[in-house]
Amino acid sequence: METGHRARTALRIGAWLRGRWVRLVSSAAISTQGLTKRFGSLTALDGVDLTVPAGVVFGLLGPNGAGKTTAIRILTTILRPSTGRAEVLGHDVVREPAVVRGLIGLAGQYAAVDPNLTGRENLRLIGRLTRLPRRRFRPRADELLERFGLAEAGDRTVRTYSGGMRRRLDVAAALVPHPPVLFLDEPTTGLDPASRLALWEMIRELVGTGTTVLLTTQYLEEADRLASRVAVISAGRLIADDEPARLKERLGNTVIELRMPDENRARQATGMIAQQLSRSPEREGAVLRITARDGSRLLLDILHLLDQHALTPRGVAVHESSLDDVFLALTGHRAEAADQEEPPSSAAGPDGAP
Ligand SMILES: Nc1ncnc2c1ncn2[C@@H]1O[C@H](COP(=O)(O)OP(=O)(O)OP(=O)(O)O)[C@@H](O)[C@H]1O
Ligand SMILES: [Mg+2]
Repeated sequence: METGHRARTALRIGAWLRGRWVRLVSSAAISTQGLTKRFGSLTALDGVDLTVPAGVVFGLLGPNGAGKTTAIRILTTILRPSTGRAEVLGHDVVREPAVVRGLIGLAGQYAAVDPNLTGRENLRLIGRLTRLPRRRFRPRADELLERFGLAEAGDRTVRTYSGGMRRRLDVAAALVPHPPVLFLDEPTTGLDPASRLALWEMIRELVGTGTTVLLTTQYLEEADRLASRVAVISAGRLIADDEPARLKERLGNTVIELRMPDENRARQATGMIAQQLSRSPEREGAVLRITARDGSRLLLDILHLLDQHALTPRGVAVHESSLDDVFLALTGHRAEAADQEEPPSSAAGPDGAP
């Protein structure tokens, strides 16, 4: 009798654990459906559907004011959505905020560390607040200071830190509890190239151990290096959700920019390039912009062609596709245009005709 009861209980516990495990491994790390946030008459997020698989870096790209931070705030239970749903590891952010908070780490866009404490004290404080045992958080704080190049500065108050040092400490703080899902809002903005590389490396390592990272960035390059999937938002709407390589494929890899001496000659050059090289440059005043996969070959051809007609550009620039180029290709206008807050929703909408 007693044994039978125990066996049944054990079976029930086993089934319950398996259920949770299956839920964990099978469901997406983050998912949103029709996620919308309004601030008065402003719609900061407009019906966003996202699925972030577990164990990847997911990049959320968008220009200033696109709604990236708003999305992160909702997913981290700081803000409530106006309508729509969001889940983290299968837990609803509105109905189960405490559970969600126990599963996530957040490095917000603005440093959340206390300037009056030292770096080490800040990290230990997080450890205490998240109820890690002292024997765990003390070495964890030391390890993180070391890895973020802050070991020497660790015992100085944060107010003496440079902007980049604060930023690194902020990201380190989010890593103290080793959360399965990590939100990083523009983690590398303001970091020097070496610190940026170090942070990328760290993010890759985290993902290698099964962590899911959702990061926002203004840099396509960053998303390209790190993220296996990238969503682009503009004026609160999702306008692309794809692998970075596929996004870039749609855009071409290289952007050639030619600054002609005046608008007239720019027009002449545009016609010539269209006719002789079968490319259609985009012209803005005296500046031509051409996106291509065979960038260096094309540049040689263009300069050769212009030279034959005694047209000399005043300046030539070649760069890899940037976020701005993604926007141009996706929306028909440059990123700044998406940033204008005036004509409300539909007029600035990304789906409008270019
Ligand atoms: N608490 C708030 N009250 C009113 N409007 C807000 C609030 N928070 C955000 N907004 C507005 O919502 C829009 C989206 O803001 P959000 O901070 O999400 O953009 P973002 O993509 O993070 O931009 P950035 O790249 O500048 O950080 C903006 O127009 C912003 O002014
Ligand atoms: Mg932001």
